Amino acid sequence: MAAMSLFGLLLGLLAVAASAQNPSMTGFISIDCGLDGESGYTDKVTQILYLPDEPYTSAGVNQRVHLGTNLTSIMSYYANVRSFPDGVRNCYTLGPLVRGAKYRVKAEFLYGNYDGLGRPPTFDLYLGVNLWETVETGNYSRAEIIAVAAAEIMQVCLVNTGKGTPFISELDLRLLPDSMYTLVNSSHSIVFIGSRINYGGETQIMYPDDPYDRLWQPVELGNRIRTVARVNPPVGDEFPVPQAVLKTAATATSLSEGLSITIVGRPNVANYLFIYSAELQPLGDNETREFSIYAGDNLLHGPFRPSFLQAQAVYLPPPSQPQGLTYYLRATANSTLPPIINALEAFTLQHLTLMPTDEGEVEAISNLQDLYRVERNWVGDPCVPKNFTWEGLECSVNASNPSRITSLNLSHSGLGGRVPLSIANLTYVESLDLSYNNFTGEIPAYIENLSALKILNLESNNLSGNISKTLYKRSQDGSLLLRINNNPILCSTVDLCNATKKKKPIIIPIAVTVSASFLVLLLVVSIVCIQKRRVGRTQKNTQAELYMEQQAADGNRQSVGKGKRLLSESGQFSVSDVVRITNNFERPIGRGGFGTVYHGRLKDETQVAVKVVSKSSSQGAKEFRAEAQLLRRVHHKHLVSLLGYCNDNLALVYEFMPQGSLADHLSGDSANKTTLSWRLRLRIALEAAQGLDYLHYGCKPPIVHRDVKPSNILLNENFEVKLADFGLSRSFTDEEATHISTVVAGSPGYLDPEYYKTTRLTEKSDVYSFGIVLLELVTGKPPIVNDSKRTHITQHVQSRLERGDIADITDQRMQGDYDVNSIWKVIEIALSCTSPNSSERPTMSTVVVQLKDCLTVKSSGDFPIDIATDTLAIIPPHSMARISPSAR
Ligand SMILES: *[C@@H]1O[C@H](CO)[C@@H](O)[C@H](O)[C@H]1NC(C)=O
Ligand SMILES: *[C@@H]1O[C@H](CO)[C@@H](O)[C@H](O)[C@H]1NC(C)=O
Ligand SMILES: *[C@@H]1O[C@H](CO)[C@@H](O)[C@H](O)[C@H]1NC(C)=O
Ligand SMILES: *[C@@H]1O[C@H](CO)[C@@H](O)[C@H](O)[C@H]1NC(C)=O
Ligand SMILES: *[C@@H]1O[C@H](CO)[C@@H](O)[C@H](O)[C@H]1NC(C)=O
Ligand SMILES: *[C@@H]1O[C@H](CO)[C@@H](O)[C@H](O)[C@H]1NC(C)=O
Ligand SMILES: *[C@@H]1O[C@H](CO)[C@@H](O)[C@H](O)[C@H]1NC(C)=O
Ligand SMILES: *[C@@H]1O[C@H](CO)[C@@H](O)[C@H](O)[C@H]1NC(C)=O
Ligand SMILES: *[C@@H]1O[C@H](CO)[C@@H](O)[C@H](O)[C@H]1NC(C)=O
Repeated sequence: MAAMSLFGLLLGLLAVAASAQNPSMTGFISIDCGLDGESGYTDKVTQILYLPDEPYTSAGVNQRVHLGTNLTSIMSYYANVRSFPDGVRNCYTLGPLVRGAKYRVKAEFLYGNYDGLGRPPTFDLYLGVNLWETVETGNYSRAEIIAVAAAEIMQVCLVNTGKGTPFISELDLRLLPDSMYTLVNSSHSIVFIGSRINYGGETQIMYPDDPYDRLWQPVELGNRIRTVARVNPPVGDEFPVPQAVLKTAATATSLSEGLSITIVGRPNVANYLFIYSAELQPLGDNETREFSIYAGDNLLHGPFRPSFLQAQAVYLPPPSQPQGLTYYLRATANSTLPPIINALEAFTLQHLTLMPTDEGEVEAISNLQDLYRVERNWVGDPCVPKNFTWEGLECSVNASNPSRITSLNLSHSGLGGRVPLSIANLTYVESLDLSYNNFTGEIPAYIENLSALKILNLESNNLSGNISKTLYKRSQDGSLLLRINNNPILCSTVDLCNATKKKKPIIIPIAVTVSASFLVLLLVVSIVCIQKRRVGRTQKNTQAELYMEQQAADGNRQSVGKGKRLLSESGQFSVSDVVRITNNFERPIGRGGFGTVYHGRLKDETQVAVKVVSKSSSQGAKEFRAEAQLLRRVHHKHLVSLLGYCNDNLALVYEFMPQGSLADHLSGDSANKTTLSWRLRLRIALEAAQGLDYLHYGCKPPIVHRDVKPSNILLNENFEVKLADFGLSRSFTDEEATHISTVVAGSPGYLDPEYYKTTRLTEKSDVYSFGIVLLELVTGKPPIVNDSKRTHITQHVQSRLERGDIADITDQRMQGDYDVNSIWKVIEIALSCTSPNSSERPTMSTVVVQLKDCLTVKSSGDFPIDIATDTLAIIPPHSMARISPSAR
């Protein structure tokens, strides 16, 4: 017990926070490996408390050594071993320790034929990530190392090298003062070989005689010599050799012979020695003891004379020319007494070449391991050495820096719950694969901060919420490969979900993957033709109008120029162009059957509307490209022009249309609440008809719009028509039956009734839809009139026509300000267009001619101006309001 308190004093000097409850905090851990039970025991001789393995390792099985083994009477921990039949590497984790402090770690291996095989194994022993030594256990073996704790734990690992099942009998760890073994530092450890020798001794000297629990083996050599007096250990704190060791010594039997010391070392490694020597007998005046130390004929040290009762430590670095394992102590010529030696320590210096994994990352990954009870080879250091890197991890192993985890693969691991926080600490991770698990909740925000992340695979989980802008952006600009397929309730485009909360809930699930192009990104920029029109208007224009016109003209020119600059020959835009234009899809301004529309700005500040098109079919991508190439060649002043597309993504960029769509104005949703005059309605109808006519007869092959409705009739700041979304549905025709039916369900009333019979959409289908639009322009009512019977607008108009009441049919908001004849004529055209039988419907060319007639019925020539003046006066120059090329 006195020794224990001495040890306690020592700890005090080292300012180690010792905890009486936790023996490991004292830096004094003793494990009886393979001991059953939980409590451990106190050894009767040494008073050391030995604990079972349980707190230190979870691997391996307990075994008892063969009954005939007699050594068990020496130390009871020899009676059992822990063996590790499973796994290549199995480890003990010792701690908590003081980082940077020096520890002596010792392991003992008494085979005792515990497995009945009679074949003691050979295996590798690691301290942390560095090889400690290869243990050839034989009947008994022992390993000892002194090293600095690089972390708050030390791991001792047994590695199966195919030469038998590793096992261990005892493992202990002792804290040493910094002053001892100064050769040891964070990059070098020392491994003891052949133990320590107590020359002239009769018994092993160990704890508590040696407070550091070193074992000094007695060895007989030459003549034994001893003293009862106190022998001072070497000066300083570096070599606190126990008294019991220093009080005995060996001398050569004759002056001429000297002493030959053969160490039990390793032949081809550099062996270092500490030799301790003190004069134990008082010398007369005519007596001299003087000797030198040699390896072969090489003088290593000397000559020197030991001091009386004062030990000296002689440090012998490995000889420059290795001379085997034998050293010679030879008396000098004028010495009257032979050499004397009290004790010796032999060791090798080991360069710790490998750095363990960064501690924070070890903690993070260990948390994961605890959380999920990962059943793999997850023992020891996660990264180092390379051939023991944990399954599912990849690391950057660097000799001069701690290793870092660069890849974590937890796919197919049956994991659930939230994506764990610990991953946040793997700051160097480049690839994160959590696919095919059952993770729930949102994608954690910290993922964005993993700046090295290049691959994120979240496929086939139950994640919810949506992809953050940053992740989306990174996935779009190609810096992140993002896979989120098969997360049924995860929203996959930025803002889609956010916007959905506020707007109409049409959610188009989009699978965002980069490798499999489930997305088709189209990029369309409209060309606007500036017309020198409205002759006779100028004199009425205000300054504001002139400014607006100038702005519009400049903007349009810039838009065209920009579009050309953006374009490659093939007309393809890059994903990053789209991201930049929309400022990372910042502002949704509308939503429709094909996707969401975002506000965008070109570099020169020209405003655009970007429609993000969704398409969940790999086949669609190819078709879409062909389609986009075709549409790119379509140019007409009443059609938005397709300048290009992005093949890997989805986006359509239109000119920003300050007046939104016709639907906005008919529904009264427009920002300025102006009512369209009849003349303006007529002009809109005519321009839309001209656009359709061009699609049907000006294009080869003809293009069927397929989705003519007020929300696809866009209006620029001068209320000039630009048809949107024409032809796009062609690509979808085959498999986009769902899209068509969505149209039917979402905006019923426009679809050609013949479609139900033929399931084909033709030019005449567009004529039908156009007829419905005409009726809307007249009545201001939606195609399905919102009365109790939900009458179709054709029936609504016809039933009132029979009563001959025009005023009852027309939009009340026009307040009777129209030419009745032209109303009649337009209704006539509309009803012929909406004839149930397509062969009875006129062509768009005919419609154009007829509508022109209507306009000339009363051609005062000033119709645009009253509207335009009102409008331009109240719309702020850069109003963002109500731009939805295909809303509803
Ligand atoms: C075993 O050890 C005991 C005491 O340590 C000794 O008396 C006995 O002879 C030994 N037996 C064998 C077989 O070595
Ligand atoms: C191991 O012990 C057995 C019997 O106990 C003995 O025959 C054998 O020589 C020993 N081997 C070694 C390497 O000491
Ligand atoms: C550590 O010790 C070794 C040998 O004792 C020495 O060569 C090395 O320079 C030391 N390194 C540091 C960083 O002190
Ligand atoms: C040293 O002197 C003592 C007497 O003082 C004598 O007995 C002894 O033999 C001498 N030893 C030697 C080596 O001369
Ligand atoms: C011992 O002999 C060496 C020469 O071999 C000599 O230099 C030294 O002085 C001698 N020492 C004594 C004490 O006589
Ligand atoms: C892990 O990261 C969190 C937050 O970034 C930090 O508070 C914590 O200390 C980190 N843990 C480790 C072991 O580095
Ligand atoms: C690990 O790799 C080292 C060096 O490549 C090799 O010497 C050692 O045998 C390997 N260990 C195992 C268990 O594969
Ligand atoms: C190790 O890390 C250092 C510093 O980060 C770096 O300069 C060096 O290139 C790395 N070495 C290897 C082999 O990665
Ligand atoms: C996934 O987690 C949910 C909710 O925790 C649970 O209902 C479901 O059964 C789990 N599915 C699987 C395959 O583990």
